[in-house]
Amino acid sequence: MKTILILNGPNLNLLGKRQPHIYGHQTLDDVERLCQSVCPDGFQISLKQSNHEGQLIDWIHEARETTCGIVINPGALTHTSIALLDALNTYEPPVVEVHISQVHKREAFRHHSYVSLRADGVIAGLGLDGYAAGVRRVVALSVGQ
Ligand code: DQA
Repeated sequence: MKTILILNGPNLNLLGKRQPHIYGHQTLDDVERLCQSVCPDGFQISLKQSNHEGQLIDWIHEARETTCGIVINPGALTHTSIALLDALNTYEPPVVEVHISQVHKREAFRHHSYVSLRADGVIAGLGLDGYAAGVRRVVALSVGQ
């Protein structure tokens, strides 16, 4: 069984409660159910969230040995964290970056992403469907499509 890590950064634990006009009313549990529903036979998902940069980095290091791809919504660390970029650069399998909101329509500081320097795909503004698209893309890349 191949495992896809769905990694979520700061404040995404509050999904559904936090600024619902931007991020919607659905929760991280809904993200998990959605990702599971698009996961084909032979693949499973493992969803994690942390508000701490170092924890996210430790999980990426662990994922090097245990997973076939990462779908990551780094939250605001997208725009600030070279350390997260460096961690992702140690990771060989596919990485897809997801943003629930259309970051390019928002404040200028959200337009730059360090993570995009590593990501094999970037999805923004599709709401939670972006996670499902990310899982599909990781699956496609990991079976060589
Ligand atoms: C986000 C966009 C980021 O700019 C923001 O800091 C988040 C969520 C998104 O999913 O749209 O926390 O990554």
